[in-house]
Amino acid sequence: MKKLFALALSALMLLGMLAGCAPKESQDTTDYSSMTLEELIPLIQTVNEGKLTMVTSPDFAPYEFYALDENDNPTLAGFDIALAQYIADKLGMELEIIPMDFKGTITELAAKKADIGMAGYSPDPEREDAMDFSDVYYEGGQSFVTVQANKDLFPDLASTNKAEYQIGAQLGSIQADLAKENSPDADIVELSKVTDIIAELLSGKLDGAYIETLPAQAYAKNYPDLAVVLDVPYEAEGSVIGVCKGNGPLLAAINLCIQDAIADGSLEQFVTEASELASGNIHEGLLDEDQTPAE
Ligand code: ARG
Repeated sequence: MKKLFALALSALMLLGMLAGCAPKESQDTTDYSSMTLEELIPLIQTVNEGKLTMVTSPDFAPYEFYALDENDNPTLAGFDIALAQYIADKLGMELEIIPMDFKGTITELAAKKADIGMAGYSPDPEREDAMDFSDVYYEGGQSFVTVQANKDLFPDLASTNKAEYQIGAQLGSIQADLAKENSPDADIVELSKVTDIIAELLSGKLDGAYIETLPAQAYAKNYPDLAVVLDVPYEAEGSVIGVCKGNGPLLAAINLCIQDAIADGSLEQFVTEASELASGNIHEGLLDEDQTPAE
């Protein structure tokens, strides 16, 4: 009998796990946004109990990147990482960060393999099926980047639209859409990592690239040969946290934490610290599985 009970219980638990972080998605009409953090915390369910699992794409200084310490050991850094830790602390959860390519962060979140994604996401309406958006926590912009020697070739966005140009943008990002929209005649090269785009700009393989302004400026500081030449208009401005779809309590709690981080000055401090760190010794790109810098 006991055995049967245990079996039934594990079947139930398995069902719960399969349902991921949002078991009551369809029928849940509760207004979580009027609740306090104390009220929300006991209601939050996550993919791994007691843990906040986050996906990120650390090729995007100062949002997320690998800082190298004095022994050249890479450590995840950036203001998204600091904000994630701030949120996890407020929720009383352990933070687990899973680094991967940018496009992968969106598919993992859509598959409910993580509770949140923090990768400097723009609230792109095309992503609404994959994730719920938090409130905006950082106001950024979009830029067109080239190298100093080619600066004068690009006085305006129209000048980027030539068939002979190789124009880079990150795979799965809104910059890839911006490239297709503003430089439709050019050869658009979509690469998985922003750091690869930087490398190809510097080596002359790319003539220009669409990159978010803050990372563009951060990389231009480290590589003075880069030139951030144009502002690119984009409607859904600002960065949001991607929350596993249908997890109302977590979304509401995250919005409260964002409000706090803005009000108590933490967020501003995270941005300042991350920007300083990003202009120091950093590792470009992702790491191999054994945590050594990948080539
Ligand atoms: N804001 C852009 C987007 O949401 C780019 C984000 C890229 N983030 C990254 N960690 N590489 O599409």
